[in-house]
Amino acid sequence: MLEARGLGKAFGALEVTRAVSLSVPAGARHAVVGPNGSGKTTLFNLLAGELRPDAGSVLLAGRDVTRLPPDARARLGLARSFQRNNLFPDLSVRDNLALALAIAQRRGAVFWRRFARLPGLAGEVEALARRLRLEEALNRRARSLAYGTQRQLELGLALAGAPKVLLLDEPTAGMSAEETAAMKALIADLPRDIALLIVEHDMEVVFDIAERVTVLDYGRVLIEGTPAEVRGSEAVRRRYLGERAP
Ligand SMILES: Nc1ncnc2c1ncn2[C@@H]1O[C@H](COP(=O)(O)OP(=O)(O)OP(=O)(O)O)[C@@H](O)[C@H]1O
Ligand SMILES: [Mg+2]
Repeated sequence: MLEARGLGKAFGALEVTRAVSLSVPAGARHAVVGPNGSGKTTLFNLLAGELRPDAGSVLLAGRDVTRLPPDARARLGLARSFQRNNLFPDLSVRDNLALALAIAQRRGAVFWRRFARLPGLAGEVEALARRLRLEEALNRRARSLAYGTQRQLELGLALAGAPKVLLLDEPTAGMSAEETAAMKALIADLPRDIALLIVEHDMEVVFDIAERVTVLDYGRVLIEGTPAEVRGSEAVRRRYLGERAP
């Protein structure tokens, strides 16, 4: 569904992405981990089209999208949520969701005219809110929500376009334990017709959700494997726990 082939990216002399390849099949649960600055967000920017690679290519459902801008990739089924908040703070949860759905269905041109009353939209908004466990918050302004709830809503905006592939960059960053648990449950409940690629620092979340894990280190793939393989890896242990090679 999503494939990176030999991606390379440098900012000036700093090589941030080096020959990174990974393949995310339909319905997969794939995590990208690595220390701060190892190039995780840059990889997402390359996959989503915010950045152009210096080398390599990106394939979406088998199609080469390396030269397509982010909005074109979104229309082909790629969605992402950002590390930073992407909501309309003064709109209600209902209107944030309605707007995202209207735009995803290319009805955005009428959003300034009672978009929430477009035929069928109200029902879709409520279904999406139920999926996100935001029914109780539908009439609240986005800015008045707790941080964790805002991030739930943000996930809803990404889901509005019925994506085939979803990129989540640190969805639990800055959350309380309670908020992390709620977000983790939402992610675990995502339908299997969505392939998930997730950057996450919380290893409990990674090992619970992911079926494959790619470990980045200085922009390179240090290892890719199942959670058990990554946990048991000598390379990871040496690198992260400072153990020496025999
Ligand atoms: N636009 C840019 N211009 C110059 N350097 C950049 C740019 N974006 C990222 N970098 C650098 O590239 C490296 C990788 O950054 P990136 O944000 O991809 O790391 P990350 O793995 O997502 O880190 P974190 O865990 O802190 O989110 C860092 O050294 C960062 O300073
Ligand atoms: Mg990052």
